[in-house]
Formats: sequence, structure tokens, C-alpha cells
Amino acid sequence: MNGRRVLLGVTGGIAAYKAAALASRLVQAGAILDVVMTRDARRFVGAATFAALSRRPVHTSLWERTAEIPHIALARESDVVAIVPATANTIAKFALGLADDLLSNVVLATRAPLVIAPAMNTAMLEHAATRAHLETLRARGATIVEPGIGFLAEREHGAGRLADEDVLLAAIEGVLQRTRDLVGERVLITAGPTREALDPVRFLSNAATGTQGIELAREALARGAAVDLVLGPTSLEPPAGANTVRVATAREMDAAVRERARDATIAIATAAVADWRPATTHAHKVKKSDEAAPLELERNPDILAGLGAAKDGLFLVGFAAETEAFEVNARAKLRRKQLDAIAVNDVGDQRGFGAGPNALVLLWGADGRKDLGRGSKRELAARLWDAILELKRAGSA
Ligand code: C5P
Repeated sequence: MNGRRVLLGVTGGIAAYKAAALASRLVQAGAILDVVMTRDARRFVGAATFAALSRRPVHTSLWERTAEIPHIALARESDVVAIVPATANTIAKFALGLADDLLSNVVLATRAPLVIAPAMNTAMLEHAATRAHLETLRARGATIVEPGIGFLAEREHGAGRLADEDVLLAAIEGVLQRTRDLVGERVLITAGPTREALDPVRFLSNAATGTQGIELAREALARGAAVDLVLGPTSLEPPAGANTVRVATAREMDAAVRERARDATIAIATAAVADWRPATTHAHKVKKSDEAAPLELERNPDILAGLGAAKDGLFLVGFAAETEAFEVNARAKLRRKQLDAIAVNDVGDQRGFGAGPNALVLLWGADGRKDLGRGSKRELAARLWDAILELKRAGSA
């Protein structure tokens, strides 16, 4: 952790005393530690304990050193923000985006990854509200270090005990490693649908929203990559740090991709490209009364196959959305398009579209296979990047 900036947020639970031992371990591991304590945390442990362990002032209020705007400075400088322990109230505030004290302001203002270690009474942990808030945070990319089962302060045995120090340390270390493992990579991602005009108001398109590609871009940026995102029509906002080119048609996407592929080290094609376009685009809206002409279609370029045919050291990953025999079909695409790997999702019954959860299996070579499981698209983006990097390194080793 040498020189990495860890912000430890301590909130008001009995397990706050355990955060002191974790602070000591973080400092021993070489982290530069900033501690933010909530008012209730200080009822359990004194700020002096953390100040002595971190050898730095402990932050407790939005209203101290106001000239430095402490919440923005802390939010910007941290490489990871770890909340240990996280109470039900704090978790609810983060999920809702409330910002009524220093810690909640920092969490709202930071772009650093979040590690959240809940600790509370079993009933509070199992309450539908707490579960929903944790799910929301997980879907946004936070790492939740699930509490263990054990003896609780209420003299009961149950779930809600803060995870062990070693588990917490490993989670923080894991997130820190992940945040830098794409430094030096130049990533090209296609995302969203394409739109092929029939006339000025009608088009051929599909149900893709670009969510999975945008999450892959977001994750790549968080891990230090430079990102080119070639994005079809969608109402979603691309991440601010990406170099985003907006396109409408497959041919526009193809041209934008070719231009950027030269500099890329890894390309991921998540876009749902329309395979066909109308042979003629009418200049004016086609009228009902016009003679019902059959819709004539022309083939669009296969953008990914084009990259595969021309790739020169580029690590190329495709997506396959299938509704049947999905692994067999995807492996055929892997070969035909000369890909290094292909991520397959089952899109039967509209699964896999939009903001909901997804499930992916990654295939490579003759029989390489890794089940990335189910999860939010952000979680799957993280797992997919882990798998891609492992494959890329194995290939170049
Ligand atoms: O052949 P199929 O369309 O199922 O292949 C899907 C993969 O190929 C996806 O990665 C998609 O982004 C890419 N593709 C493309 N250009 C096309 C069609 C698909 O880049 N015209």
C-alpha cells in the first residue's frame, strides 16, 4: 500500500473500537491514512486514538479548516474510501445520497472506490430497507464486506458482527490493486444500439441501452486506463473521463472505431449493431398513401470482424447476446471474428437489457471458459476486466 491514500470513515457502532486496530494495520502496510469520524463514532472511541495511530489530524466536522473545503480535498485525494464499521443509518444515507455531515459529504463527492463493512444488530442487518440500500451501493460499484456471524454486543449470537481485520485489510488491498491495474492500457469500447434511418422519423434499431459498455468504460477509467467510447444513440450519460464519440449508424460506428483502433491495446465490442440497414433512406416521411413498397435491406459492416481481421497485437473481446445454444454459437463467433475472448449473455425474455442485473460467461481458445456469474452490470464489468487482464497477461507471458 506504499504511499496510497486510504480514507477510513468510522461511524457510530460498538465495533468502532475495532477500526482502531485496522487503522494500525493500514499504517503498518504503508498507507497514508486519513480518518473521518462521525459524531456518534466519537461517543465510542476518541479521535486521539486515530490521530496517534495515523500521525495525522482526524477529521470530524465540515466546519473545521473551512478554507480548505475539507470534504472536497479529502474526496479528491483518496485512492479508496473504507467505511468501518458502517451503521444502518450511514448505509441508508449513502444509498440515498444524503450529505449532512463530513463523512457523507466526502462519500458523495469522491470518485474513489468505496469499501463498506456493515456491523449492526441482526434484525437491522436483515431488514428489507438495509438489504435494499446495500444492494443499491453494490450496484453502484461499492465493495460490501459482509459481516460475519458471531457473538454480538446484545449478547446474542447472529449475523452482523464486523468482518475480521484480515478480511477487511484484504478487501481494501484488493480494491487498491484493482484501481491501478489498467494504467498504460488504451481501451476502445463500442456500446449502445445503432440506428438506421428509413426516413426522417423512422429507423431500424434494437433494445440495447449501452449500460454494459458504459459500465466497462467506467470501471476501466477507475482502474487507470485511457478510454475511447464509441456510443450509439442512448439517453444514458457516458462517464466524464472517457473520450466519447457519439454515432448513430453502423457505418459511422465503423469509421469511428477504425480511426481509434490503431492506438488501442484492448478493444471490447458491446454494441448491438444493426446487421442490416434500409437500402434507401427516404428524404421525406413516407406516407401511408404511398405505394406499400417492400422494405429492401442492405448488409452493414461487421465492425468487430473488421477489427479481428486487421488486429496487430490488439486484445479483442466480443459480446454475444444469444437466445439459444448460446455457448456453441458464441464459440463459432469467437473463431469467425478472430477474437481473443467473447462474453456471452442469454438475452431470452428480454434478460440482459437495460439497468437490471446481467449474467455472463467468458469463452476463449478451443475450450477456455469462465463463468462470471450474475450481478449488476458494474459488478460484471469489474469481473470481466479481472478475467481479461488475466488472459492478456497469460498470453503475453
Ligand atoms: O454476430 P453477432 O452480431 O452476434 O456478434 C456480436 C458481436 O459482434 C458483438 O461484440 C458486437 O458488438 C459485434 N458486432 C459488430 N458489428 C456488427 C455486428 C456485431 O461489431 N455489424
